[in-house]
Amino acid sequence: MSTDSYYKDHWVDIEPDRLDRYEAQFVWGPNGDRLLEPAAIAAGHAVADYGCGPGYMSVELARRVGKAGHVHAFDINAQFVRRTKSRVALNGFADFVSVIHLRGDMLPLDDDALDRLIIKNVMVYVDDPLASFVEFRRVVKPGGKVHAIDSDFYMTAFDPVSPEDWRVVLDAALHAFRTPAIGRKMYGLALQAGYSDVAVQIVAAPDTTGRMLNFIKNMAGYARDGGDHDEVTVQRVVDIATRAVDEGRFFSLNPQFLVTATV
Ligand SMILES: C[S@@+](CC[C@H](N)C(=O)[O-])C[C@H]1O[C@@H](n2cnc3c(N)ncnc32)[C@H](O)[C@@H]1O
Repeated sequence: MSTDSYYKDHWVDIEPDRLDRYEAQFVWGPNGDRLLEPAAIAAGHAVADYGCGPGYMSVELARRVGKAGHVHAFDINAQFVRRTKSRVALNGFADFVSVIHLRGDMLPLDDDALDRLIIKNVMVYVDDPLASFVEFRRVVKPGGKVHAIDSDFYMTAFDPVSPEDWRVVLDAALHAFRTPAIGRKMYGLALQAGYSDVAVQIVAAPDTTGRMLNFIKNMAGYARDGGDHDEVTVQRVVDIATRAVDEGRFFSLNPQFLVTATV
């Protein structure tokens, strides 16, 4: 059932089937390199992965910085912290990756501790995105970069799910996000936070394989958790999307906004 802090609570406690869907959804995808490219991560960098989830990106970051560098991975979910630790160890990177269970929005890092801070699909959930950009500026050294990647949930598009049906699901699921239009807002927020340079790019790569079906099912779950939703429409969206994936005619678009802010 929804509360005012559902947008955070649903990450702290995740039921097993949703955890499995997230695990599948966050696998490092074909666009991963494009999403990270503007951050210009190099060997030897100290990098944070804020909101690491099951740790797929933490492993990719570790590969890039190598053992001369360090990755600090943070998450508020205890199971993701455990999964990230084992994924990092399995890949042989445990010596230079720290995985930390975060309990607030302040980072347990000294001022100027990092060359890069990467936050992927997490700004949408933080309590106060401007305060987070300010906090990130504290822990990144002058000349370093904060690279934020996120969706704008009003810009998601599907076919053959109708725009009207999708809007019903989206509206009922909005309580799962603190700032659902975060994608378009991050540029202005980073400027407001006082970075010396802010660049924005958009990566819009359609998914026709069904990767986004897990996202649709999670949105249906958020809508149902709200308790005040149109179940017939929510189930129709899931059924139409599932059938479209099975029949090879699924189309979805979830543009990713990349904001790279230099300290
Ligand atoms: C959509 S997932 C993204 C996971 C990962 N960054 C990725 O892209 O694969 C959001 C993650 O952010 C974490 N999270 C949510 N709110 C957070 C907060 N306020 N501080 C830190 N992590 C948070 C969740 O537990 C979850 O692991």
